[in-house]
Amino acid sequence: MLHGKVVLVTGAASGIGAAAARLFASYGARLALLDRDEEVAALAAELPDAVALPYDVADRDAVFAAVEQAAARFGRLDGAFNNAGIEGLGGGMAPTEGYPADEFERVLAVNVRGVFNCLAAELPRLPPGGAVVNTASVLGWLGGPGQAAYAASKHAVVGLTRSAALEQAARGVRVNAILPGAVATPMLLERGFRANPDFAEAAPGAHPMGRIARPEEVAEGAAWLLSDKASFVTGHTLAIDGGLSAR
Ligand SMILES: NC(=O)c1ccc[n+]([C@@H]2O[C@H](COP(=O)([O-])OP(=O)(O)OC[C@H]3O[C@@H](n4cnc5c(N)ncnc54)[C@H](O)[C@@H]3O)[C@@H](O)[C@H]2O)c1
Repeated sequence: MLHGKVVLVTGAASGIGAAAARLFASYGARLALLDRDEEVAALAAELPDAVALPYDVADRDAVFAAVEQAAARFGRLDGAFNNAGIEGLGGGMAPTEGYPADEFERVLAVNVRGVFNCLAAELPRLPPGGAVVNTASVLGWLGGPGQAAYAASKHAVVGLTRSAALEQAARGVRVNAILPGAVATPMLLERGFRANPDFAEAAPGAHPMGRIARPEEVAEGAAWLLSDKASFVTGHTLAIDGGLSAR
């Protein structure tokens, strides 16, 4: 599905990003894997044609350097999966009036400025037929009690996605977002569920399909949106949530 395409994946060291890197490689992509966690080098070494970029998406200069490095290594860039993100409060929750202001800024710096930085660096590099997928969340559509920063940041990712999609449409570059429900990754299993045992108990049942997602199921949606099979899909927000947002 992605044969020969050069794709940048951010947040590639863990969870959805790591699953996407493996899946995209199996679909024939050549990969630039960006993560602030240097573990990303181990994943790049495991895949047939991948380079590791140990950078922070909140750092604009670093992101431009990373995209430059990827384009230099492969000679082109065909797609990007802007997926790096943080949940805030180490998976904990706080009401809006008690949400620490510095933590609010930190979540927005990664989840919003990070995607903004990536789009700014990537879009001029993408040829007609190129594609971007941003990872938002069902909290890009819905409110999340106790998760003001995260929900605000993911609503912003939807806004960034739709704006860039409209700007790029005439040029033939597509920009879409995926909106996962709960996904079995370290973000949720090692942080969110540990900090909120009640949420862990309730999460499967909150999804009409009665379970949470595997990261590979989310990666499949991103792969399709990045591929030429989605050639007339842009500005779209694709929920991958077992029916959660259909309630
Ligand atoms: N797990 C879920 O339930 C869920 C649901 C909806 C959306 N999401 C979103 O999916 C994306 C991936 O999350 P995940 O569940 O795989 O989490 P994860 O914590 O397992 O992986 C996130 C990766 O992003 C990297 N990262 C974080 N901040 C970074 C930065 N500033 N620069 C570069 N890399 C950075 C981390 O090092 C990590 O490797 C996030 O945007 C998250 O908000 C997750």
